[in-house]
Amino acid sequence: MTTTLDLVLWVVVPYACLAVFAVGHYWRYRYDKFGWTTLSSQLYESRLLRWGSPLFHFGILAVFLGHVMGLGIPKSWTAAVGVSEALYHVMAVGVGAVAGFCTVVGMAILIYRRRTVGPVFSATTRMDKLMYLVLAIVILLGLANTVVGNIVGHYDYREGVSVWFRGVFLFDLHPALMAEAPFTFQAHGLTAMLLFALWPFTRLVHVFSVPVGYLWRPYIVYRSREDRLGGQAPRRGWDRVGARYRR
Ligand code: HEM
Repeated sequence: MTTTLDLVLWVVVPYACLAVFAVGHYWRYRYDKFGWTTLSSQLYESRLLRWGSPLFHFGILAVFLGHVMGLGIPKSWTAAVGVSEALYHVMAVGVGAVAGFCTVVGMAILIYRRRTVGPVFSATTRMDKLMYLVLAIVILLGLANTVVGNIVGHYDYREGVSVWFRGVFLFDLHPALMAEAPFTFQAHGLTAMLLFALWPFTRLVHVFSVPVGYLWRPYIVYRSREDRLGGQAPRRGWDRVGARYRR
């Protein structure tokens, strides 16, 4: 039987968080277009960033693609194209574990850097701190899901959590499926929803920045001022407008 609490947790909270996600992005774009950035901190520190950032970003990209497949594609479809349960299981645990591991190690380096490098820490807002905390909890609970669902126990999330998740978007609600799921799956789903609600108010908006080549572009390069490089001695007195550039 579906209780009121189940309805609140698995219907009301998800829709409220997704609504904040959508309206929040619209609001942020309208009112803070020039603050739509990850606020690069490469200027302050680059040794840790060089390792942490690619590990985290490629890891999370693989995790995202895994979620598109695991949550978005019904089990009957993968079966119809000949992917057996055993093959799916090996793929999900193998690729998922490597991707999850890279994400966690990358995130640990980035959070360590943010906490220990003074100027990077000073450039971290209160909202960012909350977001990093929730992000870390979501990711660790995700890894716990892989362990609870596949290694220490067995829970076929493609017949439970995935059906519920798709139902939220298709308006075909299944709160009972989440009420029956193991605790780590429930906690992961709920904290992920909370992360979606925080998303538009943090540096995470950079995920939706064009150009799409963000992952492959070099870091923003900051250069010193021309005169500090010694290229041109500052002149005394007045120059005619534009005179400096005509030479
Ligand atoms: C409501 C949204 C979400 C649902 C329903 C969900 C569901 C799941 C499920 C069922 C698993 C187990 C996969 C397996 O064992 O093969 C999992 C794993 C995982 N999830 Fe999520 N997830 C959601 C959002 C997120 C978000 C937003 C993040 C990160 C920001 C995330 C990060 C992870 C990680 C790191 C794993 C470990 C396994 C892997 O590497 O794929 N999840 N999630």
